[in-house]
Amino acid sequence: MTLLGFRGALLSVPHDPREHPQAIRHEADGLLVVEDGIVVAHGDHADVAPRFPGLTIEPLPGLIVPGFVDAHIHYPQMDRIASHGAQLLDWLDRHIFPAEMAFADRAHADGVAAAFLSELLRNGTTSALVFATVHPQSVDALFEAAALRNMRIIAGKVLMDQGPAGLADTVDTGRADSAALIRRWHGHGRLGYAVTPRFALTSSDAQLHDTGALLAAHPGVLLHTHLAENLGECAAVAARFPDAADYLDVYDRFGLVGSRSVFAHGVHLSDRACARLHDSGAGVAVCPSSNLFLGSGFFDFGQADRHALRLGLGTDVGAGTSFSMLSTAGLAYQAALARGDPLNPFRALYLATAGSADLLHIGDRVGSLEPGQEADFVVLDPAATPLLTRRTQGATLAEHLFALQILGDDRAIRRTYVMGDCVWDRDAAA
Ligand code: GUN
Ligand code: ZN
Repeated sequence: MTLLGFRGALLSVPHDPREHPQAIRHEADGLLVVEDGIVVAHGDHADVAPRFPGLTIEPLPGLIVPGFVDAHIHYPQMDRIASHGAQLLDWLDRHIFPAEMAFADRAHADGVAAAFLSELLRNGTTSALVFATVHPQSVDALFEAAALRNMRIIAGKVLMDQGPAGLADTVDTGRADSAALIRRWHGHGRLGYAVTPRFALTSSDAQLHDTGALLAAHPGVLLHTHLAENLGECAAVAARFPDAADYLDVYDRFGLVGSRSVFAHGVHLSDRACARLHDSGAGVAVCPSSNLFLGSGFFDFGQADRHALRLGLGTDVGAGTSFSMLSTAGLAYQAALARGDPLNPFRALYLATAGSADLLHIGDRVGSLEPGQEADFVVLDPAATPLLTRRTQGATLAEHLFALQILGDDRAIRRTYVMGDCVWDRDAAA
């Protein structure tokens, strides 16, 4: 048994502060006690320390927050980040589909998976919901690399029988490969599986129907796809499915809308779709840097909140422009404000941690550092840059956090811990 104490300023937001004004937990001089990777105590140092006489305590200067949970990201796209000049459908054809074809090669997938997970940890992200490619070996590569690092990763093989030549499965191979991957990986250590149809346009009706059957046969997995991201995409979906009430209804008709469904984007949602998302318990991964990069628009937080939607935050790399959930939170603020709603920095932190964890149905394991949770956490450095140092001096906690979101990125991640082990130390790497 190993028992370790970490002393420093602790900040977590276990519940949405919009609904629970008392949700913010802050201990200026806090102590986190971790036994075999699990949090066993979290509170004020003066209260907690006497309960653990003889405890080895490591001081951690900075602000300790839960490890970030990226609710939507594509690992095979990391080397196509910052690809110029096109909105979604052209960007996929020009930049993304050619890059994803290379993942037929397992060695290529292994190399990118390792680099991808290192980049997540460097940015303080310890859990993520990840798109692989159509190739089942791309999922094996990611899960094997994640198991080595003991990270909480949920991923799936992309279903896309209408994809371009060289990047398409069939109804039968899609079903068989997904079922085999679920058997091999779902619930293995900290790993989980998400059935992953790319979006409505890349699957036949037969594959969408089959995807509903796959989900019904495996009630513990997630459904992960894209929804109402970009106007060109929405027009193409409406043209292909003229009888559907809206984009969400396309998925609904095939049994893909339920409490374990995670839809990326939702920038262009009807009120009917929002009401249906709410009633089904499905949620949305909001991806502001991607929405700006592809000219998709700004997520409507006001509409989502009127319908009490479940929300998380995602980078959506490679359309997203950064792995940093801090800077993604800062862009969420700017997207919200563009539609008239200022996003509170504590709520933004909630979305990047416990909110995303709840969306991914792992909120009982990670996201808030409550006793019983896995000890995935990050030490933020409010003096990571000269400008951050100036802006955070004498600032309130809310100002401090907001400055980290607007000015911060990977440079502000001093350390990352996975189940109590330090897996990224910025200053040691320098
Ligand atoms: N819609 C379908 N595929 C993709 C993708 O790879 N990225 C984004 N942002 N949207 C998509
Ligand atoms: Zn995406």
